[in-house]
Amino acid sequence: MVSPGWVRVIEGDARTLPGVGPESVQLVVTSPPYPMIPQWDPLFVELGAGGDFAAMHAELERAWRACFRALCEGGILAVNIGDALRTGPEGFRLWPNHAEVLLRAEAAGFRPLPYLLWKKPMNRPNAYLGSGFLPPNAYVTLDCEFILLFRKGGPRRFPPKDPRRRSSGYSRSERDRWFSQLWGDLRAARQATPEGGRSAAFPPELPRRLVRMFSLEGETVLDPFAGTGTTLWAAAELGRNAIGIERDSALAARLRRRAERGEPAPAD
Ligand SMILES: C[S@@+](CC[C@H](N)C(=O)[O-])C[C@H]1O[C@@H](n2cnc3c(N)ncnc32)[C@H](O)[C@@H]1O
Repeated sequence: MVSPGWVRVIEGDARTLPGVGPESVQLVVTSPPYPMIPQWDPLFVELGAGGDFAAMHAELERAWRACFRALCEGGILAVNIGDALRTGPEGFRLWPNHAEVLLRAEAAGFRPLPYLLWKKPMNRPNAYLGSGFLPPNAYVTLDCEFILLFRKGGPRRFPPKDPRRRSSGYSRSERDRWFSQLWGDLRAARQATPEGGRSAAFPPELPRRLVRMFSLEGETVLDPFAGTGTTLWAAAELGRNAIGIERDSALAARLRRRAERGEPAPAD
């Protein structure tokens, strides 16, 4: 059994990462607010981006730049993001958040790596079919999200037979499942918040896999958009230390209380 890592929560802004030193983390696992999704419209107005797609991504790009500074050489950035659908003056269309994050993280200095597709279980798989069974005007269902992967520079180097690297290893069957591009076996997370809202949390198994794939025990994992803290407690239960930045003061206070009580990760 690995001993759990510490969790530190900072109320602050992902675009500046207060309290996170340069080159001080080995892995970032995060999911930002998604541009062009109604749930996050008011937040992007507060961030100064209004409803403009490029302006929203310009604010997120500032967070990718801050992550670049915080990561060590060879460190990995993993971003869970979904595309959006919205009907504007020109009609119904896709807003490709994944493409924009990919290009902007690259502009921030990251090297893009092959990404993962998370196929989500859908309650209403035909929600976007529109015209039912008649071609050609139906739309494909958006039932995948992206887990975009980036590295700061080249691969990390370790001494031969590094014991910490060995004790952090994964099995052959884990490797075969986790490093295949389509992840279709993750359950959706519980979304209800204590206040009766929606949290946009991802399932704990998602950060758990990424933490085991891309960090060693004893290293530090950052989530600049911490939300309900799924990444933080997944990292801590796996013997990594975790830093979470959250802009919402009520959420940040709740996370901090949980960290101070040393609570274990909640059950899936
Ligand atoms: C998609 S949710 C993250 C959910 C998280 N992965 C989880 O499992 O709970 C995005 C979070 O980022 C926070 N947020 C939005 N803008 C932020 C910013 N500029 N700095 C820090 N946190 C921010 C929101 O308050 C929200 O909690």
